[in-house]
Amino acid sequence: MIQPLRPLLVMGTRPEAIKMAPIVARCREHVAIDPIVCFTGQHDTMLRQVTDYFGIEPDVDLKLMEPGQSLTRLTARALTALDETMEKFHPDCVVAQGDTTSVLAAAMVAFYRRLPLVHVEAGLRTGDLSAPWPEEYNRRVASITTALHCAPTEFAAAALEREGVSRAAIRVTGNTVIDALLETADRERARADHWQAKHAYLGDRPMVLITAHRRENHGAGLDSVFAAIAQLAHDFPHVSFVFPVHLNPQVQRAAAEHLASVPNVQRLDPLPYPEFVWMMDRAKLIVSDSGGVQEEAPSLRRPVLALRETTERSEAVDVGAVRLVGCDPTKLIASVRQLLTDDAAYRAMQVEHSPFGDGTAAQQIIDWMLETWRPEHAAGELETSAVLAGGVASPS
Ligand code: UD1
Ligand code: UDP
Repeated sequence: MIQPLRPLLVMGTRPEAIKMAPIVARCREHVAIDPIVCFTGQHDTMLRQVTDYFGIEPDVDLKLMEPGQSLTRLTARALTALDETMEKFHPDCVVAQGDTTSVLAAAMVAFYRRLPLVHVEAGLRTGDLSAPWPEEYNRRVASITTALHCAPTEFAAAALEREGVSRAAIRVTGNTVIDALLETADRERARADHWQAKHAYLGDRPMVLITAHRRENHGAGLDSVFAAIAQLAHDFPHVSFVFPVHLNPQVQRAAAEHLASVPNVQRLDPLPYPEFVWMMDRAKLIVSDSGGVQEEAPSLRRPVLALRETTERSEAVDVGAVRLVGCDPTKLIASVRQLLTDDAAYRAMQVEHSPFGDGTAAQQIIDWMLETWRPEHAAGELETSAVLAGGVASPS
C-alpha cells in the first residue's frame, strides 16, 4: 500500500493564505496527498479573512500573533512552535510560500529536521537587503535550503540560477496568486450588485484604492504618502480614495493622523479577500506597497503606483503595468494626477497578459511534488484506491 504524501503546508499571513489556498485545494482533491495544514497565526484576523473564504481549517494553529510583535521575538516563537509541529506530525516535506517570518522559520526548522522544503514563489529578488525589509533576507535564507524552487517567472528562475541553484531544482510554475485571483474575480463579478450596495458611497465616482504596510516605509515614508493622499483628495473632490488600513499599529496610527478628517477618503478595516478583489476590479487605479497587489492588478488591467523604490516583481514594471513612485509625495501626486486625467497614459499601463501566470500554478506545483516523492502518481490521472493499494514503497 502506497502511503500518501504528507506535506506540511505552512501559512502565517494574509498573502500566504491567499497564495497557499489553491495548493491546499489541489492537495485535498488528490487521493495521493494527505496535507497537514499549519497556521502559524503570525496574522490572526487578516489570515482568517482569507481562510474563511476558501474554507480552509487548520490541522494546527500556532496562534503566534502578539500586538506590535518584534521580528526577533516572533521568529524565536515560530521556530519553537514549528519544531514541535514537525515533531508531532512527521511530514514528508514542508511547503511554504514567499518571504515572511513564518517562511523563514519554516525553512530553518525543516533544515534542522532534514525535511525537504518546497518554496512557492521562489527567486524573487531586489538585490537590496534593506528593501523589502526583512523579506529579501527571508527569501534568500529559504532559497539556500529549498529542494523544489517553484519560480513564478523565467526571470525569477534566472535569479536562482545566478545564485548557483541547479536548473533541475527549479520549475517555472507561475504564481498561485493568479489561480486564486481568477477564480475569485469571476465569482465576485457575479456579486457586483451586492458589493456596490455595500459601498454605496462610491456611486459611479472614479476610485483610487490604497494599501500600505511595508516596514521599511513606517515612519517618515508613510507620513509623506498619507499627506500626499490628503492633498490629492482635496484636489480631486469627485474621486473616492478608499483605504482598507492594515492592522499593523504603525500603519493605523499614521493613517488616522493624516486622513481622519478628509471627506472623500474612506478608511476601512482590512477587507475580506473577495471584497478586496471586487474593490481592485472597481478601482480606476491602485496606490500600494503590496507585493501581492503588484501581481494581481495587471490581470485586472488596473495600473499600480508602487510605493517602493525597488521591487522584486520587476516583470510588472517591465511590461508597464506598475510604476515605482517610492514614498516621494511629488512623484505620487504627479502620477495619480496624470492617470486620472490623461487617458493615453492610463491605457498605456493596461496590459493584455499577466507576467505572473495563467492560473495553473498550484496544479504544476503538486504535480512536481508527486513526480519527486510519489512518482507512481505523477500522471495525476491514476488516482484510484486500486493504485494506492498497488504496493509501491514510499520513497520519503
Ligand atoms: C507581515 C510580513 C510581510 C507581509 C505582511 C502581509 C514579516 C516580517 N512581515 O508584515 O512580509 O507583507 O505581513 O500583510 O513577516 N496585526 C493584527 N492582526 C492581524 C495581522 C496583524 O492586529 O491579523 C497587527 C499586530 O499588531 C501585529 C502587527 O500587525 O503584531 C504586525 O504583524 P506582522 O505579521 O509582524 O507584520 P506585518 O507588517 O503584518
Ligand atoms: N488584500 C485583502 N484585503 C485587503 C488588502 C489586501 O484581501 O484589505 C489582499 C490582496 O488581494 C493581496 C494580498 O492581500 O492578495 C496582499 O497582502 P499584503 O499587501 O498584506 O501583503 P504583501 O502582498 O505585500 O506581502
